[in-house]
Amino acid sequence: MYESDALISKAQKEFRTYFKEEPAFVVRCPGRVNLIGEHTDYNDGFVLPIALPFSTVIAASPSSSDLVSAHSEGFGPAQFSLSEAPQKSVGWSRYLHGMGAFLRRSGIAVRGWNGYICSDIPAGANLSSSAALEMAAGMTFKTIAEADIPLMEIAAIGKAVENELMGVRSGIMDQLACAFAEAGSALLIDCQSLNLTLVELPKSVSVVVMDTGTRRDLSETAYNDRRETCERVSASLGAASLRELSLEDLASLGSVDEIGLRRARHVITENQRVLDLVKCLEGNALELTGEILNASHESLRNDYEVSGPALDKIVEIAQNVTGCYGARMTGGGFAGSAIALVDTSHVERFCEEVSDSFEVPAGQPAEAPTELYAVEASAGISVL
Ligand code: GLA
Repeated sequence: MYESDALISKAQKEFRTYFKEEPAFVVRCPGRVNLIGEHTDYNDGFVLPIALPFSTVIAASPSSSDLVSAHSEGFGPAQFSLSEAPQKSVGWSRYLHGMGAFLRRSGIAVRGWNGYICSDIPAGANLSSSAALEMAAGMTFKTIAEADIPLMEIAAIGKAVENELMGVRSGIMDQLACAFAEAGSALLIDCQSLNLTLVELPKSVSVVVMDTGTRRDLSETAYNDRRETCERVSASLGAASLRELSLEDLASLGSVDEIGLRRARHVITENQRVLDLVKCLEGNALELTGEILNASHESLRNDYEVSGPALDKIVEIAQNVTGCYGARMTGGGFAGSAIALVDTSHVERFCEEVSDSFEVPAGQPAEAPTELYAVEASAGISVL
């Protein structure tokens, strides 16, 4: 992991070597980790992410044409013309091309650029490395076009890139977290009204991100399948989204739609847990905060069925270590990362104990090393 300043200097230096000129500016966009409110965003619900100290950085300067030439430290070179359809770009550069094409679609006079990209957000760990790339690219296009585009609109375009070009019917949480989070606070997002509220985190607790090293591509059908089930249930009960329903409303589903009942029950109880957790953080009721996190994990595992063997295992270990208030899987699920809320004075010992006890379960091989990070809630996107 780099310090953010070191990551920026590296991108600037590599830019000079690669493009033989000075970068005009640098965009830095953090990844995010969600404290609670999982699989609620696309159901018009509540989420509570923080931005991470890890980020994606683009050092860039305008080019004289429609051509974007980007070089990623991790993924190599890419080139595309904004006059071509974004479907022509494959792999990571489709995020960039998609942002340019969809900004143009909404009437922004985007132009080409040269850019060098560095990132220290672990990829595929459910820490929003793709949303950070989308937002950083969006901000690069905006800066070069000198256009007046609200950050909210860039976030919506990032979501459209996921939905229309990457085949994931994800919600708006990741892009909004990367864009609007602030240091020291979590960001309460009402995904129906798009109201944003900062919730200060107590100093006595630390968020520990536990990356199991297991990976799973979100575009695999399970994510979209969950969303379809939620839409089916709300439509069958005459509601625009699960946000409008209460547990009592689900009674009629009974044994007719057992899966639908469990999926909807997760979403409805999870929305309440987000609001309860916010109250607990504000009142410094940390024991209760931990219980809510644990209940969220149970609901995701049993009702929503998006946990996995590695996530269950690391969460169970964490929950039993001294100083841990609570733990749960985070993000889309199945693999990747979990989080724990830990008493700050116990963090070092906590990380050691979890690392010593955790081994990836047989049957779910890791693609990266297991890593534990005690993270500070960090600031959202910026242009330097
Ligand atoms: C992924 C999606 C988000 C959200 C989470 C689950 O991170 O990108 O929109 O749905 O999964 O909470």
